[in-house]
Amino acid sequence: MPPLLELRNVKMYYGTSRGTVKAVDGISFRLNKGEAMALVGESGSGKSSLAFTIIRLLPRNVAEAGGEILFHDEELGVVDLAKMNEYEIRRKIRWKKISMVFQASMNALNPILRVQDQMIEPLVLHLGLSREEAVKIAEEALRSVGLAKDVLMRYPFELSGGMKQRVVIAMAIMMRPRLVILDEPTSALDVITQANIMNLLKELKAKFDLSYILITHDIALASEIADKIGVMYAGKLVEVAPADVFFRKPKHPYSQKLLAAMPTLREEKSIEYIPGDVPSLITPPPGCRFHPRCPYAIKGKCDKEEPQTKQIDGSEVACWLY
Ligand SMILES: Nc1ncnc2c1ncn2[C@@H]1O[C@H](COP(=O)(O)OP(=O)(O)OP(=O)(O)O)[C@@H](O)[C@H]1O
Ligand code: SF4
Ligand SMILES: [Mg+2]
Repeated sequence: MPPLLELRNVKMYYGTSRGTVKAVDGISFRLNKGEAMALVGESGSGKSSLAFTIIRLLPRNVAEAGGEILFHDEELGVVDLAKMNEYEIRRKIRWKKISMVFQASMNALNPILRVQDQMIEPLVLHLGLSREEAVKIAEEALRSVGLAKDVLMRYPFELSGGMKQRVVIAMAIMMRPRLVILDEPTSALDVITQANIMNLLKELKAKFDLSYILITHDIALASEIADKIGVMYAGKLVEVAPADVFFRKPKHPYSQKLLAAMPTLREEKSIEYIPGDVPSLITPPPGCRFHPRCPYAIKGKCDKEEPQTKQIDGSEVACWLY
């Protein structure tokens, strides 16, 4: 059985007046059906760019895009999303097979349009459904996320943050996709509402056998739902590990730093911070991109040669220490 999603050496560079930004630079991983992968990494490491690359919402200033994005589906077989044109993606993939909850999307709901109009418009416009069919689907999706159908008639400003986030999630699952990409779905919410949304995501995952790519800064939150953890650093995926292995024994020095920087309620420990900044993606450091900040950097090796990804007890890690 092939994985639901397999990326092979995926790249996406932006063209800017300052130079080419290598935001997604040779990323490979596999995601199985029903699996949730949390994607973590500092701000600017390319997480959202990778999400847009997968769902093929490439901005106008793309300078280069490459690699294979293989998606396996019972109906379509194995297709390479990177080779499909916008028309095919829209007709066959986006929202129907792969959907996305965008970063800060609950605040992007149009305040002067009723929820109903925002939910059913894409169904009518892009999928050619009748208004009645679309309303039925929207009502059902709202029910799945724990909202009453009369929310359809409300305006976004009449809803709490948690309710708006539920609406956005309802929009993402409304066409019964196989994979949902969630970009910081809870970062604008208070902790109780965050926990409620995470519980909802868990329920939906089980109910619809969904796969997730969950982008988050909050590794503790990620541990609630993720089967595996992917760590991005400066446009590269430096480690992918089963969640239990990752939390017990992160292998990449950057992953170790990220975990050490995570506050915990269970034990008293001083929180470390990671010295230095995320490097420029226009002129990234040669060799291992983490070498200027890495306490274990091997002189003459890490600063010159790029580490290849290796398999070590179930984890994939790109570091010369292994
Ligand atoms: N449209 C664009 N044009 C040029 N550069 C861009 C564009 N969008 C993002 N970038 C750059 O690409 C890099 C990766 O950005 P991205 O938004 O993917 O990071 P991220 O990991 O999602 O960060 P955050 O955690 O802050 O959301 C950054 O250097 C960013 O400035
Ligand atoms: S390859 Fe070298 S610099 Fe990079 S994380 Fe490993 S030890 Fe550190
Ligand atoms: Mg982002």
